[in-house]
Amino acid sequence: MSTDEMPPLVQMFQLLGGFQVSQALYSVAKLGVATALADGPRTIDELATATGADTDALGRIVRDLAPVGIFRTGEGVVEVTPLGATLAEGRAGSLRDVALFWMETHYAPFGVFLHTAVTGESAATHYYGEPFFDWISKSPELVRVTNAAMAAVTQALRAGMFDNYTLPEGPLVADIGGAEGSVLCEFLARDPNRRGIVFDLPEVVPAAKQVLAHHGLAARVDLAAGDFFTSVPEADVYLLSWILHDWDDESCRRILRTIKDSAAPGARLVIAESVMPPDDTPHPTKLTDLTMLAMLTGRERTAGEYEALLSAAGFNLDRIVPTPTPFSFIEATGN
Ligand SMILES: C[S@@+](CC[C@H](N)C(=O)[O-])C[C@H]1O[C@@H](n2cnc3c(N)ncnc32)[C@H](O)[C@@H]1O
Repeated sequence: MSTDEMPPLVQMFQLLGGFQVSQALYSVAKLGVATALADGPRTIDELATATGADTDALGRIVRDLAPVGIFRTGEGVVEVTPLGATLAEGRAGSLRDVALFWMETHYAPFGVFLHTAVTGESAATHYYGEPFFDWISKSPELVRVTNAAMAAVTQALRAGMFDNYTLPEGPLVADIGGAEGSVLCEFLARDPNRRGIVFDLPEVVPAAKQVLAHHGLAARVDLAAGDFFTSVPEADVYLLSWILHDWDDESCRRILRTIKDSAAPGARLVIAESVMPPDDTPHPTKLTDLTMLAMLTGRERTAGEYEALLSAAGFNLDRIVPTPTPFSFIEATGN
């Protein structure tokens, strides 16, 4: 029986139990259970020894997650399914780092989501006592976990996103809020004649060194640290990937104006975001919108809302290019 064929009471029970599944999946990811099964089935005893888990608890987690599609059990051994294997470490497209990022930084603030519903204030700000990115930037380990999750999103959810898209012309591309540089690498690896800049907060940008070196792009990309509310480097093409959805409208206008003031004449802007359908059409960005509401001051936006933001900051929206992923490229030029 598929979920939408279940009686409403059963469906609601399952929806309410989302926290059980999230935390059980997190345990599988954190303890390396999916990783330990990557080379083939094992007994629960072997798996518990390999991962440092309690044998009885692990047996129950495996048994309970099997119907969710994570494991197959039988003949005394456990096997990980292709779905479960997405939590294994070190695989291309692994979501293990996203599991760690969400459960170690988002889960607790979501416990006070009611505060957001009543006041409109971010649950993370309420829970941590400061804005989320300020809290993250104080801990090198949390910066590492965040960067790893962003890189995992690029590899997994954005697979195919860059294949048939060419950036607007211009020799120098600045990735504003570029984190560890994985998005810029996708573009520059396909485009040997351009140079790039990864721009992010001082605590974040050093992580890009390793990623750029790994892609053989260190010589073509400069790192620049700063605050996109104050100033950004001059460039011909600006990338804002997964930045504007983190911020409220006024902050977005400030970021866009900073870029406009720093840009070379005729510079182009490319925003990579999910564009929210204006109606009830299901779209993954609707759950991301809840994350923006709880964790930051941001929101997911419709095409019309992006056009209004851009226009208020002195940009004309040129076109929106959909991709085979939930993300689109929104191109704009300063007016
Ligand atoms: C959701 S991540 C997006 C990362 C990357 N562009 C991507 O698409 O994967 C947002 C990034 O904005 C950066 N950021 C937040 N506040 C910033 C600021 N004031 N100035 C520069 N970067 C900032 C964060 O450090 C983080 O790397």
